[in-house]
Amino acid sequence: MDTGSARGTAHHITPHHRTVFFSKMNCLVGAVVLLLSITAEARVGNSSEPTSYCTETKECLLFDLICEGKEYEVRHYEAAKWVSTEAESIFKEFAIMRAFRKLFKYITGENEAGAKIDMTAPVLTKVKEEIPWMDTSVYVLSFLLPSAYQNHAPQPNDSSVYLMDMPDMNVYVKSYGGWMVSPISKMYSDQLKEALDKAQATYDTDYHYDVGYNSPMKLTNRHNEVWYVVKGKPVCPPAE
Ligand SMILES: *[C@@H]1O[C@H](CO)[C@@H](O)[C@H](O)[C@H]1NC(C)=O
Ligand SMILES: *[C@@H]1O[C@H](CO)[C@@H](O)[C@H](O)[C@H]1NC(C)=O
Repeated sequence: MDTGSARGTAHHITPHHRTVFFSKMNCLVGAVVLLLSITAEARVGNSSEPTSYCTETKECLLFDLICEGKEYEVRHYEAAKWVSTEAESIFKEFAIMRAFRKLFKYITGENEAGAKIDMTAPVLTKVKEEIPWMDTSVYVLSFLLPSAYQNHAPQPNDSSVYLMDMPDMNVYVKSYGGWMVSPISKMYSDQLKEALDKAQATYDTDYHYDVGYNSPMKLTNRHNEVWYVVKGKPVCPPAE
């Protein structure tokens, strides 16, 4: 039996959490083998590789584009390890600020190894749908661990910070520029939801991710996204 297909099959039963760098050598290997190796591994890598907008960190979360249209795109992400924490507030910005500080302390040395860990992109905020007016909600913020820490990340000192394995997933994505402030991100998540409903796409309706790629220092060409996690078979946007 050829090892390529054995790996491909194994992936669906036991996803690997290893990270590999794709060297030039991989490019020379047959397309089928390359595809299988891509779909079997967490992909955290070189910023120059995936996109023109993931530019501020050495490494970014890589993905495979399934399809795209004017309204949204569909991507596949491999399983990856993140460090997360949550914060509760009426105001999303307050919760995010508090959670961000805790995760920042983790990557700047508040971990069992005292390790300084590089910042990566994107930063995810898990946002519950249907938050009642002026009610608090719990927001979960996550930093992606760089490839060097995907296999063994040091435990956080702060017990409210935890390591999180995100399973592989397909996501519906809408991108936008500017600043990811509440009314703006809400507008784009509503737009994406509307487009998905129109396309009869099925997705997790309990939450979405606000996805940021830029530090507050960056004033131009900012890039943000909203993600809904695909349920069932991904539905591509209608052709224009
Ligand atoms: C990232 O890509 C550039 C250009 O291909 C290369 O020079 C560099 O070594 C790569 N860095 C890593 C960490 O793979
Ligand atoms: C984190 O915990 C480790 C051991 O558990 C300790 O050596 C280190 O000083 C702690 N770091 C900070 C910044 O509290």
